[in-house]
Amino acid sequence: MSEKFYITTPIYYVNARPHIGHAYTTIACDAIARRKRMLGIDTFFLTGTDEHGQKIDRSAAAAGKSPQQFTDEVSGEFRALWDRMGISYDKFIRTTSAEHKRGVQELFRTLQRNGFIYKSKYTGQYCVFDELYVDVIGPGAPCPECGRPTEMVSEENYFFKLSAFEDKLLKLYQQPGFIRPETRRNEVASFVRGGLRDLSISRSSFKWGIPVPDDPGHVVYVWLDALSNYITALGYGSPDKKDQGRFKKYWPADVHMIGKEIVRFHCVYWPAFLMAAELPLPRSVVVHGWILFEESKMSKSRGNIVRAETIGEVMGWDALRYFLLREIVFGQDGSFSFDALVQRFNADLANDLGNLSSRTLSMIARYFKGEVPYPSATVARTPGDEAIAKHAEETIKTFGELFDDDQFSRALETAWSLVGAVNKYIVENEPWALGEKQDEDSRSRLATILYTCAEALRIVAALTHPVLPESTARVWEQLGLGDIKALKLPELKWGQLPLGTKLGKVEGVFPRADKSAIERMQKMEEQRAQAPATKTEPSTAEGGGATQPIPAPAAEPPKITIDDFTKVELRVAQVKHAEKVKGADKLLRLEVDLGTEVRQIVAGIALAYEPEKLIGRKIVIVANLQPRKLRGLESNGMLLAASVGDGQPVLAGFLEDVPIGARLK
Ligand code: MSP
Repeated sequence: MSEKFYITTPIYYVNARPHIGHAYTTIACDAIARRKRMLGIDTFFLTGTDEHGQKIDRSAAAAGKSPQQFTDEVSGEFRALWDRMGISYDKFIRTTSAEHKRGVQELFRTLQRNGFIYKSKYTGQYCVFDELYVDVIGPGAPCPECGRPTEMVSEENYFFKLSAFEDKLLKLYQQPGFIRPETRRNEVASFVRGGLRDLSISRSSFKWGIPVPDDPGHVVYVWLDALSNYITALGYGSPDKKDQGRFKKYWPADVHMIGKEIVRFHCVYWPAFLMAAELPLPRSVVVHGWILFEESKMSKSRGNIVRAETIGEVMGWDALRYFLLREIVFGQDGSFSFDALVQRFNADLANDLGNLSSRTLSMIARYFKGEVPYPSATVARTPGDEAIAKHAEETIKTFGELFDDDQFSRALETAWSLVGAVNKYIVENEPWALGEKQDEDSRSRLATILYTCAEALRIVAALTHPVLPESTARVWEQLGLGDIKALKLPELKWGQLPLGTKLGKVEGVFPRADKSAIERMQKMEEQRAQAPATKTEPSTAEGGGATQPIPAPAAEPPKITIDDFTKVELRVAQVKHAEKVKGADKLLRLEVDLGTEVRQIVAGIALAYEPEKLIGRKIVIVANLQPRKLRGLESNGMLLAASVGDGQPVLAGFLEDVPIGARLK
């Protein structure tokens, strides 16, 4: 193991508010970074936000904000949440920052200089949701990754010679531990074996990105921009000596932690860019699965998200951290539910660890005036005492091995096996009965038992501190040990609890949650889901931001009869002509063909759709709406669109071909 350790989360897209899917990646990295620091390793933990590209440009437009204003707000929300959660990042990078832009341009120039970039025409389909060029044919053809309709792109672009790296990449995947877990390796290798085509790395039809050096009509493809954050955050491309030193010290990354859907970008594109730039390659890409909620991936577009704030406010941040790392087998998908969260919390934290801590500490307070007792030198130790000491020594070793192999759940399981053994030891030895006796042997025996419990508690707190930072810090203080940050994990072993230490104030660390906790959390999330999209609260970049207010529940929409519904005439129409309405930023004037007639419709979609891109597209309109005038133009019908995010319209459409004029029933 190197003396430094550099770990990164992916940078989060600011088109969505943070939810516990995002928190999962961040919490896993945070736990790893905390343990490395406790091991005395010079650690740099990077996180941040991904703010460029067409998807963000459109989300900002739909929210009626400038992209800069929009990204400032959402990026601020991510940062404020991580600060509230106590995420121990060393740097929060934004792709809109000057240092990042400079670094990306430097990387682009280097790739150019090294002969890996050329200009050519790209014509093909693009998935804006995944910001991915896809190999499908025809306007609106579904994206093979996410199933959403793709858009046709026909642009003069800069290309990266990705095809030159097939063999080198396949060789890289042979390197043990480069992709973890192993199972992900085959997936990537077979993608590369299928053949790599050169990659378009610029766009010219929109502006929200980093200008290509010396050709500002182009912006850098958002994934080249985003991936570069891992080096620009350290100082790559900076003329400053200090930045250069930081880059030299920490690069290459030891761990890029990512979710399974972005493996291709991190294991194919990113190493290829680095090879082309003659930069060292990351040591490992660690891939985790998804948090599922109500059976599918938790995500904004599915609308099935749970916010970390809800859990933090009701159950505490440690409850969320512990649940995610204990309940979900790292690398696999795992389900979240409020019931499971509360069950896990009550069983493991309130009962097992909470009881061990409060029983041990309160008996020391009661029977030894709050001072850690001296284990007896006169009364013989029992095999039970020895077994706990041995169990603790083994736990230190196994916990470390499993944790350092990203097996967080199993690592925690071993720590809880020690907790269980000590709780059993307490029941078997009945210290409360000895506490009632005053003879010297009973006092000596009691001292040994309570010392054993307190020492085991200290070891569990030390090991689990990266996962339960707040509560173990409190246990540490109650044990009279001061600041847990001073602990040096490599030195941890049985028997170090100083005798005679005065305990801190003893109080419960994990109050039991009851059913009302589940109801409160569910209600908070329901209210959020029902609330109309609210303006983003500005939050400070320095964090500590306030939680978003919980909006009042919306009234249930009234039910309609089938007769009511059939009054609405929904029809397929094809856009024949589209243009911006002068003096109205949000409006487009469309001429749509219904098969029997061509109509004029004025629609508020100009911020989300460029007029040229709509020509030929089949849409759904309400055909029997009373005409009305908008900006002096008659609008004869209304088109249907989903309102996503902060109100961004996404036009309804069909994956199969449908005849113009067909009625929707
Ligand atoms: N911006 C890109 C990453 C660029 S890195 C150079 C991106 N952003 S994201 O916000 O969509 O996702 C960021 C991380 O959050 C990913 O690792 C993703 O897997 C993780 N998660 C988002 N939703 C998730 C779940 N429901 N479950 C687990 N992790 C998920 O991709």
